[in-house]
Amino acid sequence: MSTTSAPIATIASLAAHEGQTVTLRGWLYNLRASGKLLFPIFRDGTGTIQGIVPKAAVPEAVFNTLKDLPLESSLTVTGKVRADSRAPSGYELDVENVEVLQRIADDTPFPITLKEHGVDFLMEHRHLWLRTPRQSAILRVRATIMRAAAEYFDTNGFIRTDPPILTPNACEGTSELFEMDYFDDDKAYLTQSGQLYIEATALALGKVYSFGPTFRAEKSKTRRHLTEFWMIEPEVAFLELDGLLNLAEGFLTHVVTRVLELHRADLKVIGKDVTKLEAVIAPTPASTTNEVSSRPERSEVEGPAVGTATTSDVAAEENVVILSEAKNPRISPEAPQTSTPANRFPRLTYDEAHAMLAQAYAEGKLENPHKYGDDFGSPDETYISSQFDKPVMIHRYPAAIKAFYMQPDPADPTKALCVDVLAPEGYGEIIGGSQRVDSYDLLKSRIEEHNLPLAAFQWYLDLRKYGSVPHSGFGMGIERAVAWICGLDHVRETIPFARTLNRIYP
Ligand code: 4AD
Ligand code: MG
Repeated sequence: MSTTSAPIATIASLAAHEGQTVTLRGWLYNLRASGKLLFPIFRDGTGTIQGIVPKAAVPEAVFNTLKDLPLESSLTVTGKVRADSRAPSGYELDVENVEVLQRIADDTPFPITLKEHGVDFLMEHRHLWLRTPRQSAILRVRATIMRAAAEYFDTNGFIRTDPPILTPNACEGTSELFEMDYFDDDKAYLTQSGQLYIEATALALGKVYSFGPTFRAEKSKTRRHLTEFWMIEPEVAFLELDGLLNLAEGFLTHVVTRVLELHRADLKVIGKDVTKLEAVIAPTPASTTNEVSSRPERSEVEGPAVGTATTSDVAAEENVVILSEAKNPRISPEAPQTSTPANRFPRLTYDEAHAMLAQAYAEGKLENPHKYGDDFGSPDETYISSQFDKPVMIHRYPAAIKAFYMQPDPADPTKALCVDVLAPEGYGEIIGGSQRVDSYDLLKSRIEEHNLPLAAFQWYLDLRKYGSVPHSGFGMGIERAVAWICGLDHVRETIPFARTLNRIYP
């Protein structure tokens, strides 16, 4: 393809080639001309670099080829790498040669230009929009969020077990199911969550997680809802609610830490204020932790609380408080070392959150009162999260508004042992989780009360029949996390090809 013998390099690796002549393979991202000087900007997927093309210094054909080359034409470019402190990447390319792979036809220019386009137009051209630096940066951060999320569990003794995508039953409510025919008169549903299945694998393997696409036939057009999204879900045998909160905290801290380690430049392109992310992982002075919660937390020093806490507290500590290398030799040196008690996220009961909202309403800070017993609305969640720098964990919601599988609080059975984690800055719920009902009889009556088909849940009931134990887990939607971490006002930009109520193209 190339007639030159210069080594092939990528824009991200140019530091290693300073002063050398290299060949880059990519696309023409932008072009500026100033008399006898051209300033093409090339991109290759790893970054962008500005080229310098003085008419007098290059073969005439090179100058003429570049001078009216339509943007996004594909090419290879050969040139000498020169450090330039003013360049965003730190380097510029003194162009020596160009070979065009495909010159875009003049009458069909690349539809996305550097001017502003409406969101509908951009979503219609999502396959091309992905090439712009901001969208590429978002996808790089997404990839790290997914890798860091899996890494947290992989390095803390969890086994990844993949649940099925075609299922015979609902997990999160029957109104949001995608239904399909499944041979001889049977119906199948696209999974809403792997949870029910990983409860089974957790009772087989102890600590497990799943990570895959999940589906909800959401009829809502909000900035937080997709019909197809990716969820990572840990599930742990002998873990109770308090340990689950610790797990969620260590997990989120690790994910944010990794993003800050690797993506400061991308976050700048995206326009995210990184100080907001730094605050998430900053240690909280011990004296101020938990002051918002009137409910005393069990800690390692206090010893076990009532009930079945003994085994589960041991498990909780082992699971979530940082595992040192000595304790877990499978941990690699760069394994998560992020969750410490000093890094605690605020924890509020539903009742405390309600009281906070009632006070805010009384002070005129909220337009509408929150009705006790109802779920929190978007303005409620935004208000609560605005009171803190870190994600807020709200636990013990009224059982009546939560899923059938949630364990009731022994101290007040009208409440569920569950948690919603609200992201900072008004991004709303990113994690939902709970301790699971472990009694056969209670679970059976819950399934009946919710009018769920008992036959489809027989296997799930078996888990309470054969060696039931307390167990807990949560799910985090990747796209909600990306929206928060990147500071995006809509989840449609957090996934390469968003699926929403009114879009399934491209
Ligand atoms: O709160 P949810 O519905 O919880 C569950 O599915 C549990 N079975 C998880 C578990 O305990 N293993 O969903 C979990 C998370 C939400 O907090 C949110 O981040 C995300 O999944 N999510 C969505 N993300 C995008 N679009 C949607 N329509 C979503 N619905 C839920
Ligand atoms: Mg939820």
